[in-house]
Amino acid sequence: MENGFLFRQFTELRLLASGRIADLYRGVDPETKRTVCLKLMTAVSKADPAERARFLRAAELQSRVVHPNVLPVYDVRTGKEEALIVMKYASGGSLFHRLQTEKTADFSRLISWGKDLCAGLEAIHCAGIIHGDVKPLNLMLDESDRLMISDFGEARTIGEALPVQPQVVINGSPYYMAPECARGYAPTAASDWYSVGVILYRMACGRVPFNGPDAETVMRKHVYEKCADSRRFRSDLPPSVAELILNLLKKDPAARPADGKAIAAILSQCDRS
Ligand SMILES: Nc1ncnc2c1ncn2[C@@H]1O[C@H](COP(=O)(O)OP(=O)(O)O)[C@@H](O)[C@H]1O
Ligand SMILES: [Mg+2]
Repeated sequence: MENGFLFRQFTELRLLASGRIADLYRGVDPETKRTVCLKLMTAVSKADPAERARFLRAAELQSRVVHPNVLPVYDVRTGKEEALIVMKYASGGSLFHRLQTEKTADFSRLISWGKDLCAGLEAIHCAGIIHGDVKPLNLMLDESDRLMISDFGEARTIGEALPVQPQVVINGSPYYMAPECARGYAPTAASDWYSVGVILYRMACGRVPFNGPDAETVMRKHVYEKCADSRRFRSDLPPSVAELILNLLKKDPAARPADGKAIAAILSQCDRS
């Protein structure tokens, strides 16, 4: 793609990922010598003012939450048409890529990534923000495997009125989508916790609780099907952790646990198994 003037200030550029809204690059800021991640709007998103506004809004919401488990936004640069987000570079890549190679997480990873996820999500909710797209592709790992929540592209403040938009399904999101969202309702803090339940299940069992040939089937299962106990696929999982996962995956949003510290404390019991 054509690189704009905002982008040309960076050196040693390497494409990391390419999406509909943005392309992501690794680069070096020549002023600070820091390796950074650059999220640059694509031609498609530049052409649409609503997409551009969403892109900038996402960066604004992400930069509002300063927490070790939320990926830091360093800077947002805008030109007449262009917009670029400068972020911390996560050298460990995404949790999605890690789980592709490792399939399941051992207990020490399950605990540390689970705790990181809970702490980051709690900080986001405390800032009055719903993430709305918690999934392994949006969870980054740093050089010491610390997990940081990123991609606030679907985020909104609590109570914010939503522009009516068709249900968009991108990059395997239906696997991590809460039943109420699959039914077309806007995500709440409880929907984010449901996604945490799916991620814990995925890390523990090497599979998502609901699978199927297409997004509709998966979404229907989230709404109507009971999920199999995680201990069927990971028999050494402590019962309290298996129960926590089932509780996070409750169909009724009001029945799900939502206290990050309490959830993290239950995860720690994997230590004693
Ligand atoms: N800070 C980062 N450091 C390293 N890789 C990143 C970073 N941010 C994103 N990526 C890579 O780019 C992918 C897409 O990034 P994301 O912000 O989720 O964009 P999109 O809006 O296209 O979903 C991630 O899954 C990850 O592989
Ligand atoms: Mg993403």
